[in-house]
Amino acid sequence: MNKKIIHNTQYFVRNELGDDSTGHDWHHIERVRKYALYIAKKEERGDFFIIEMAALLHDIPDEKLNPSKGAGEEKLSDFLATLEIHEEAKSKIKDIIYSISFKGGLNNKVLSREAEIVQDADRLDAIGALGIARAFAYGGKKGQAIYDPVIEVRDEMTEDEYRNGNSSSINHFYEKLLRLKDKFNTVTAKEIAEERHKFMEQYLQQFYKEWNGQA
Ligand code: ADP
Ligand code: NI
Repeated sequence: MNKKIIHNTQYFVRNELGDDSTGHDWHHIERVRKYALYIAKKEERGDFFIIEMAALLHDIPDEKLNPSKGAGEEKLSDFLATLEIHEEAKSKIKDIIYSISFKGGLNNKVLSREAEIVQDADRLDAIGALGIARAFAYGGKKGQAIYDPVIEVRDEMTEDEYRNGNSSSINHFYEKLLRLKDKFNTVTAKEIAEERHKFMEQYLQQFYKEWNGQA
């Protein structure tokens, strides 16, 4: 039964996000699902079904990928309404999705065990080689500069500043990506994050070297 629900959900999400080019494509979802299940199994905690469902659906209501915030929320609600699972499971899945987003702040909300794991999985895909690729893909789509030394790195931002303020993809490393290292909830994700964090630091060193025209 659960297997069929997962299968249907996968089909739905694939159709919805298939050709997104901002870094929220189907492959991102598949990686988040894989990381989430890996962490859950390694740490032996959380409800695996809820975790897998939330990982699959986590970007469905994202405002960036919908005409409006309300439209995104409706899309998620409408889909959940078609599923034959307990109302309690539906509201758990929704709670996870709405509690894990970054949106300009590393807010220290209290998360459920399942939400902690899905958040870690989503954050793992925001760092490392893939995180770098996603940041430039997102930046390109938004029309922001790769780098511009004149644009200052922002510290705390409101959601609107994060989404619409002036930034560059390199600034995004300092505004989010490098700050994630200390924000993982699980030991398993922390360990994976270490290598990816170092890789981003090395990448930036090389970037500045080339930016300054050093041979
Ligand atoms: P979340 O969905 O967790 O709130 P975002 O939607 O902010 O995360 O980010 C989705 C992806 O796009 C991430 O990989 C993130 O690093 C990247 N991204 C978000 N904002 C920017 C930006 N201003 N410049 C470059 N990359 C960005
Ligand atoms: Ni995501």
